Amino acid sequence: MFPGDVLKQLPVYDPTTPERTLQAEELVAQLREASGLVLSSAAYHGSTSGMLKNALDYAEDLANDPRVYLAGLPVGCIAVGKGWQAGVNTLSTLRMIVHALRAWPTPHGCVINTAPDASGAVTGVSQSLDSIRLVAAEVVHAVKSFDACLSSLVAS
Ligand SMILES: Cc1cc2nc3c(=O)[nH]c(=O)nc-3n(C[C@H](O)[C@H](O)[C@H](O)COP(=O)(O)O)c2cc1C
Repeated sequence: MFPGDVLKQLPVYDPTTPERTLQAEELVAQLREASGLVLSSAAYHGSTSGMLKNALDYAEDLANDPRVYLAGLPVGCIAVGKGWQAGVNTLSTLRMIVHALRAWPTPHGCVINTAPDASGAVTGVSQSLDSIRLVAAEVVHAVKSFDACLSSLVAS
């Protein structure tokens, strides 16, 4: 798991040098080992935060791996905005990035709107939690299904 305060410590990704900080090495190692991922981003000016995008740019260090980038990984996507428009756009952007990294965005995308209503209350909290749980459940389901599929291919 890579929370925001760890991602914040990553230097801007530099493709011209193999030198990496300890946090960057750990991130790349975890991406290399992962069998599924959940990505979550705040909506910043209508799209993903630069912090998350910079972290994902480190996937370039997997370009020459036997498993190129995040090939074949199921990836759940969660976007949070103070409104629907930026949240939905951020979700679409996350899915495009996942696709570019050769991974599989899972079917249910979660958008959480933290804008308060006219009374100042944030509504829809239980729906948001259900939506997050569904993202997680679909990633787990996909990991198991992909594993079973690969095993049957190896066995045949
Ligand atoms: C630099 C910056 C840009 C933001 N841009 C948007 C935006 O375009 N649309 C939006 O709905 N929310 C925007 N937000 C709000 C964040 O998405 C929101 O703070 C985040 O989802 C966390 O929600 P919270 O502040 O209610 O905890 C922005 C926040 C920051 C700091």
